[in-house]
Amino acid sequence: MEIITTVERLQDVAVRERAAGKTIGMVPTMGALHEGHLSLIRRAHEENDIVFCSIFVNPVQFNNAEDLQKYPRTLEADVQLIGDLADYVFAPSVEEVFPVAPSEVYDFGSVANVMEGAARPGHFNGVGVIVRRLLEWVRPHKSYFGEKDYQQIAVVKEMCRQCRILSEIVPCPIVREPNGLAMSSRNRRLSVHEFEVAANIHRILEASKACATLQEIKQFVESEIDKIPEFQLDYFELADAATLQTADTLDNPHGVMGFITVYVGPVRLIDNVRY
Ligand code: PAF
Repeated sequence: MEIITTVERLQDVAVRERAAGKTIGMVPTMGALHEGHLSLIRRAHEENDIVFCSIFVNPVQFNNAEDLQKYPRTLEADVQLIGDLADYVFAPSVEEVFPVAPSEVYDFGSVANVMEGAARPGHFNGVGVIVRRLLEWVRPHKSYFGEKDYQQIAVVKEMCRQCRILSEIVPCPIVREPNGLAMSSRNRRLSVHEFEVAANIHRILEASKACATLQEIKQFVESEIDKIPEFQLDYFELADAATLQTADTLDNPHGVMGFITVYVGPVRLIDNVRY
């Protein structure tokens, strides 16, 4: 595996691998890797000749300065974990990616305006800015994203549609801790107690599948979350799995999903469930 820090070298090797007829898989990450990321990298490794993994804490997708500052940065350990699963790790500086502050303003439409888009103004614009650059530099045949950030996948697909980026976007299932908590780099910031309590997010979402109507689901999830003193609910939305707009019936042809964001102490965790 080669660690690349410049865009010039990244583009150079990507062009050469393509010209040699290799299929390229790309896994964009912000580092602090866990089993969830590794599942994406393994899948990319299985489905492509060459794998690029990027590790870059993208400042322009953080709408909260403290969140950006506290985001774990563990490059050495990340590289160890990736081992031979990736051929290239792109780990640039902020100045390398953004020689000038990016000024692109996207309109990703309705998939980007709800839930995380509404709660974190500018977040998806920042995701679009970095993912577009990475995919244009590497030009991967396939790019891999985890379904914990389900809405992000919809936004990335829309960005690719708008910008005519032809990489296939491959959604990959959520990987969970043994206690059910969705794996996230943010889990490292939980205390041992908070980590155990946070398992209730998934437990409550799973239990809500027994409810018969959308109204019952919403009431059940909100009241169960409210019973746990360590939790502060940001939102719980029931949405059409394709459009991400509020669902009005469980019999929706695209399927209905529940999207939740909960603060556990200062740590903001997201998860989702398909009904
Ligand atoms: O999901 C993430 O870790 C980030 O949003 C991504 C896609 C790597 C862009 O910075």
